[in-house]
Amino acid sequence: PLVVVLAGGLSHERDVSIRSGRRVAEALRSTGLDVVVHDVDADLLAFLRTTRPDVVWPLLHGASGEDGSVRDVLDMAGVPYVGTGPRASRTVWNKPIAKAALLEAGLATPDYVTLPQSLFRDLGAQPVLDTIVAHLGLPLVVKPTEGGSALGVSVVSRAEDLPRAMVGCFAYGETALIERAVDGVELAVSVIDGPDGPEALPAVEIVAENGYDYGARYVPGETEFFTPARLTAEQAAHVADVAVRAHAALRLRHLSRTDLILDADGTAYVLEVNVAPGMTEMSLLPQAVVASGRDLPGLYRSLVETAVH
Ligand code: DAL
Ligand code: MG
Repeated sequence: PLVVVLAGGLSHERDVSIRSGRRVAEALRSTGLDVVVHDVDADLLAFLRTTRPDVVWPLLHGASGEDGSVRDVLDMAGVPYVGTGPRASRTVWNKPIAKAALLEAGLATPDYVTLPQSLFRDLGAQPVLDTIVAHLGLPLVVKPTEGGSALGVSVVSRAEDLPRAMVGCFAYGETALIERAVDGVELAVSVIDGPDGPEALPAVEIVAENGYDYGARYVPGETEFFTPARLTAEQAAHVADVAVRAHAALRLRHLSRTDLILDADGTAYVLEVNVAPGMTEMSLLPQAVVASGRDLPGLYRSLVETAVH
């Protein structure tokens, strides 16, 4: 079959997407598939019409890739694709909506408030921030409600650092999600749909001395990963179960990655779920596939074959 990998796009994560797309395209070609990599532009529909791919893999991170809009176009064009459909993508893309769905499914997620920039401005920054600190305590994590790769994210330990964090966040989005920071082990658990339903891959443990920010994600040597994570068998089974439940509850398809923190009491707090997990050489899902003993190109190929059928 002819596979089109969509990579690039106009989101803040364009560079990451290009790296993910290149890796996946190379892996698929190594299994003998024909692969064309295409950027996303106004010609997408015309390109699909002339190229007539058997299947598309939208490896687009950030807006349009993960918010469901490109997947809507693929549905309209009648082209099968790897990954979650548009409706579920939209839910997951908005972190507060995803958190509400996770809570509904009985999963834990850190306490939070959302704060639109307009409200922040109209009510006066300081009184709003004082109220939030009184409500959630410190430290806090400030992030845009929609986004990826930790862009616009700050961890705030002192109240006086909050205004700067808000400005950093509003540079990437209109609304801030302010969460209580949970202390514990930072983990990412990828889930792949198998013949018997969704299956969790080994958890990846992330140890980033100064936080798992954009640099720590994509500059080699900045972050230490343990795959599988240094967990007891019971803890590993628990976080696997949480990721599978998140994947099912949010109606995700083919693949996903759930990011979470396991605290000292054994509660796994889901931070977010990703419909287009990074696939760069530094990314978490590929590390988990390799640690599981599976062949990475072979697994990518099986996802493509599942999507075609
Ligand atoms: N948003 C990046 C690509 C990730 O979640 O891996
Ligand atoms: Mg993400």
